[in-house]
Parts: sequence; structure tokens; C-alpha cells
Amino acid sequence: MRQHVNPLSKNFDEIEKIPSLLEIFDDPKLNLHLDIGCASAEFLFDLASNNKNWNYLGIEIRERLVKTAKLKLQDKEIKNLYFVFGNANNILNDYHNQFIVKNLKSISFNFPDPWFKKKHYKRRVIQPGFINFLANSMQIGSLIFIKTDVKDLFEYMDLTILSNLNFKKIDKKDFNYSESFNPNEFKTSREKYVVINELNIFDSVYIKV
Ligand SMILES: C[S@@+](CC[C@H](N)C(=O)[O-])C[C@H]1O[C@@H](n2cnc3c(N)ncnc32)[C@H](O)[C@@H]1O
Repeated sequence: MRQHVNPLSKNFDEIEKIPSLLEIFDDPKLNLHLDIGCASAEFLFDLASNNKNWNYLGIEIRERLVKTAKLKLQDKEIKNLYFVFGNANNILNDYHNQFIVKNLKSISFNFPDPWFKKKHYKRRVIQPGFINFLANSMQIGSLIFIKTDVKDLFEYMDLTILSNLNFKKIDKKDFNYSESFNPNEFKTSREKYVVINELNIFDSVYIKV
């Protein structure tokens, strides 16, 4: 069951300041991947435990999930993973946190909340203004991954990203997952549910040009 939080609520106006990469990771020079809407982060724990040559950052708007993930992180002593609580749009746009976007190799949006009603589209995490901000801040060659089981949402995200001329879609047959942030092709929690229930998956990868 999906639990939706309104990202436009004033509760998320206060923004967590992300410490420097040197403070949050053992080796700040590793490639950096950001997962937006990481929920309870099993996916990021799988990635960080198995790929020590990448650093991973998760942003999640449900505070309880972030607190639990942070506690689990302390227990496991994983040094290439960090969590931030809040609305990803506000956090990354904040002046103090913009260094994160400049340092990213890739970003994933896995099964974002669909917000089916048209009047709620503005709550969707992918917005034209946000994509424009990413286009102006991400390095050339960095990647955006999107994945969802909702066809309408996929079409909306695909159109929003491709409307920005700084992003081009990569043909799947030309894409080598073994060199990406997810070489083992781990699945997120939602993706496991979608696979078990034989629902469709719509996904794409875009490169900043
Ligand atoms: C449907 S769940 C998918 C979770 C996970 N990515 C997966 O694939 O299993 C979407 C997640 O995005 C989070 N979320 C929604 N809007 C967000 C935003 N603006 N910033 C950060 N997280 C957000 C929700 O709280 C929820 O945990």
C-alpha cells in the first residue's frame, strides 16, 4: 500500500543541510549516485553493501523511514551510504546543498508517487522547473534513471525530461548496466512487488548532453 505525503506542505520548508562529501563518506572521490524517494532504503543497503566503489545518497520525505534507515546504517557501519530527510526538490535546490548535484554521476527516480488526479500533478517529484535545475547543475555525461509501473506517469516523466534539450534518452541496447550504479541489477521494494504481481514496468535512462 502506498502512503502519500504532500511534498508541498509547509512541514518540508525547513531544509536539512547536507555535510561535505568528506564528512559523510569514507572516500569522497568515488562516483556518487542519488536515489530520490528511497523509502526504507533496502535497495540502497543492497547497493552500498555490494558496490564499495560507489557512494550512495538517499532522500526520503517520510521522516520515520529516514530515522530507521539511519539507525540501521550505524549498526552496519557502512561508509558509502548517507540519508537525508525532506522534499528532494527543496533539498537539492537549496544553496547549501547544490554541491551534491554538481558531484552526481547519476540519479534514480524509482516508482515515484503517481499523484493520479490532475490537480495533484504539481506534487509529483519530477517537475519542469526541477529538471531545468538538474540540467543546469549536473555534469555533462551524468545520468537520470526513471522507473514506474504507471504508464501515464512514465509518459509524463519522459515528456518532462525530454522537453529539456539538455537531456537525451539512451537506447537500452546501448546501455551497459555493469558500469552503472547498479551493476547487479538489484530491485527496489516496489519493483519486487510489481514483478511478483506481473505488472508492467516502464523505464528509461537519460544522459545530460
Ligand atoms: C511509491 S514509493 C517508492 C519507494 C522506492 N523508491 C521503491 O521503489 O520501492 C515513493 C517514495 O517517494 C517518497 N517521496 C515522494 N515525494 C518525495 C519527494 N518530493 N522527496 C523525497 N521523497 C519523496 C515517498 O515518501 C515514497 O517513500
